[in-house]
Amino acid sequence: MVKNIAWAVTGAGHHLLESVAAMKELSQENRVCTFVSSAGEEVLRMYGLFERLSEISGGGYLEEIFLDREEGSSSPKTGRFMMGKFDLLIIAPATANTVAKITCGIADSLVTNAAALANKAGVPVYVLPTDVKESTQTQTPYIIDRELCQHCEICPPREACPNRAIDDQIELTKCDGCGICVELCEHGAIRGGTFRVVTRELDKENIDRLRALPGFTVLEDAKEISRLLFGNVYDCEVCNDNIRS
Ligand SMILES: Cc1cc2nc3c(=O)[nH]c(=O)nc-3n(C[C@H](O)[C@H](O)[C@H](O)COP(=O)(O)O)c2cc1C
Repeated sequence: MVKNIAWAVTGAGHHLLESVAAMKELSQENRVCTFVSSAGEEVLRMYGLFERLSEISGGGYLEEIFLDREEGSSSPKTGRFMMGKFDLLIIAPATANTVAKITCGIADSLVTNAAALANKAGVPVYVLPTDVKESTQTQTPYIIDRELCQHCEICPPREACPNRAIDDQIELTKCDGCGICVELCEHGAIRGGTFRVVTRELDKENIDRLRALPGFTVLEDAKEISRLLFGNVYDCEVCNDNIRS
């Protein structure tokens, strides 16, 4: 049976690629309405994934994209949870920030309001948090390595950038992750870097608190969403790709 899924995306690079792939997969046979935090919108753009949302939530009723920056402080669209419009809420990826707020009962943004109202309305909430493992290898958006940059007078990446996001650095809130700059720099100074972050005890404790809250289920990976909801695991190359997880 077709489910009405509310899907919230927050500002995490970790689990982002596979979450968007899972959204796309589920949208084939279900209705997916997308709620995006302000940081989520920025980070989706940085990874070049923002435009994909319109392939998932096409704009019809219960298939809209709601952006935090457009929805005001009281997030009235989340009232749909009270009206029984959604079968479930998935928050994937969920930043440490959003998890912390939910566990403290804070509802001051689109996604945290969605979590609070879904929970009050008895709608199950599934959360895929970052910062679960001891440490995580994560990939950054495109950056300029200042040690390699030769400060060329005519900088082909800067000239070609469709968003004018390149100056001495890449302004990430303008960058949409298209990556055309990478090949254009003959010094190889532009790249997406990987780095390892160590998980804080505080964030692990918040995830444990979330696990204990009635109505919330904490997920281990994006594949689990389909397994939990539909009893099957879809075969998704992106989700098997460990680079960003
Ligand atoms: C490129 C990028 C990647 C990020 N990845 C993560 C992440 O994986 N996990 C996390 O907790 N925060 C991450 N952040 C930081 C959050 O975006 C930031 O804490 C933000 O305030 C979260 O807001 P939100 O929870 O409302 O989306 C990232 C930020 C940037 C710029």
